[in-house]
Amino acid sequence: MKESFKKLLDLKDEALKGGGEDRIKAQHEKGKLTARERIDLLLDPGSFQELGMLVKHRSKNFGLDKQVFLGDGVVTGYGTINGRLVYVFAQDFTVLGGSLAEAHAEKICKIMDHAMKNGAPVIGLNDSGGARIQEGVVSLAGYADIFYRNTLASGVIPQISVIMGPCAGGAVYSPALTDFVVMVEGTSYMFVTGPNVVKTVTHEEVTSEELGGASVHSTKSGVAHLTYPNEIATIEGIRTLLSYIPQNCEENPPSLLYTPGDESRPALDDIIPDNPNLPYDMKEIIQQVVDPDSFFEIHRDFAENIVVGFARLAGRSIGVVANNPAFLAGVLDIKASQKGARFVRFCDSFNIPLLVFEDVPGFLPGTDQEWNGIITSGAKLLYAFCEATVPRITVITRKAYGGAYDVMNSKHIGADLNFAWPTAEIAVMGAKGAAEIIFKKEIAAAEDKDKKLKEMEAEYARMFANPYRAAARGFVDDVILPRQTREVLIRGFEMLKNKAVSLPRKKHGNIPL
Ligand code: COA
Repeated sequence: MKESFKKLLDLKDEALKGGGEDRIKAQHEKGKLTARERIDLLLDPGSFQELGMLVKHRSKNFGLDKQVFLGDGVVTGYGTINGRLVYVFAQDFTVLGGSLAEAHAEKICKIMDHAMKNGAPVIGLNDSGGARIQEGVVSLAGYADIFYRNTLASGVIPQISVIMGPCAGGAVYSPALTDFVVMVEGTSYMFVTGPNVVKTVTHEEVTSEELGGASVHSTKSGVAHLTYPNEIATIEGIRTLLSYIPQNCEENPPSLLYTPGDESRPALDDIIPDNPNLPYDMKEIIQQVVDPDSFFEIHRDFAENIVVGFARLAGRSIGVVANNPAFLAGVLDIKASQKGARFVRFCDSFNIPLLVFEDVPGFLPGTDQEWNGIITSGAKLLYAFCEATVPRITVITRKAYGGAYDVMNSKHIGADLNFAWPTAEIAVMGAKGAAEIIFKKEIAAAEDKDKKLKEMEAEYARMFANPYRAAARGFVDDVILPRQTREVLIRGFEMLKNKAVSLPRKKHGNIPL
């Protein structure tokens, strides 16, 4: 073999070894794969083209000139997932702890720039000790270069961050700026300040897992949209997620071939309990309506009173937003409003039509909610729906009360079609509360106050606890039997498939943050 060829192969061999066998062994012992193993699983076999394999850092600080690794701790390049182009970077924890500095950041920026020019998603596999301490401010500059690109790319190409190890300090802000944060349970964590600093500042004793593990971020903070028990399931999850999403904001999401059949779903007729105050699980309705096994839930364990996720309807990718009466009666609170708003904005950015199922008794009352800004948070969801120009259809299954009726994709704020089931109650509030206010004097004057209240409640319910007042005004386009929902929605989204609406010209809106 020619000497020059041999030199190249030796260099590539060296690069493939990352931080060396011992560190790879240590990585495996933690239940983690290496950067290259992860990329192999993520991309279609043989599709990966690496860029920057021979990049080296230029620092001489603190003995770094003796610790030079080809690739500088991050594997970057492009390949395909189910035949569609994606750009990927995977931090290599075996090289200087996957720490990010000048050259490492330049490699990530390079693939982000390609992704923007060529209109394809970026997937970041994060596993890093953070800013490379020895390189000082150039490491911080590297993060900022990435944050800037994340922000410019937001709404242009999908960005997915996968946390597969440590992600601490400033490093958390790149994932936070992207569309989806996916975490591996037990082996990943994210926090702005770690347990040691927390102990010094607030005297709290907390482990990394308790402070920022996958379970915390998927249930309490909502930082993580998806979590999986291991790396293989995580990577499979990303591949599935991408199947619902277009390559960029100029394209439509991919559709699957669909053969029309009997779209009637009689099981839907029996889901709403006779007693309007009893809960039921909205996910049962979603599962019945959308294509079998197509519902891909996002933020499953966070703010469970609202359900969001992708699905397919007659093969077409849609975003579902639904109140869930099985949790907190389906009420809208701060977290639910934020969760819903973020999802609606993602779908609208990427041309994914929105389907809303509504059963909402209103906003959650109380000092906790008011003092923490339910007004601003509720406005986020309202704003997100108002500005969404994708096809939008609402189905009111039961309660649509008060301001929440307006917020949940009502026709008044731009929904294209609004359907109600016969069980719908579209009113300012529940019949009991309403009767207590408007018939206060009559009830006070009555001999049997309870009886009078019940009578008045029944009168109010007769008038408003139904969909027909709203239908008479055209606020509801049709009242349908539950079993007809799927066919009505298929027809509706087909009718709306060429919808074209533009917003007034502006620099950008000012969503209440
Ligand atoms: N800069 C430079 N090198 C780093 C680093 C960083 N930010 N983080 C980790 N490393 C190096 C370690 O020195 C070690 O090098 P070695 O293999 O030559 O010994 C290697 O990466 C692995 O780190 P180690 O600490 O042995 O791994 P661990 O799994 O026990 O712990 C961390 C992982 C992330 C918790 C720990 O490395 C850490 O606290 N890092 C610093 C985090 C930080 O404060 N970052 C700066 C702010 S953003």
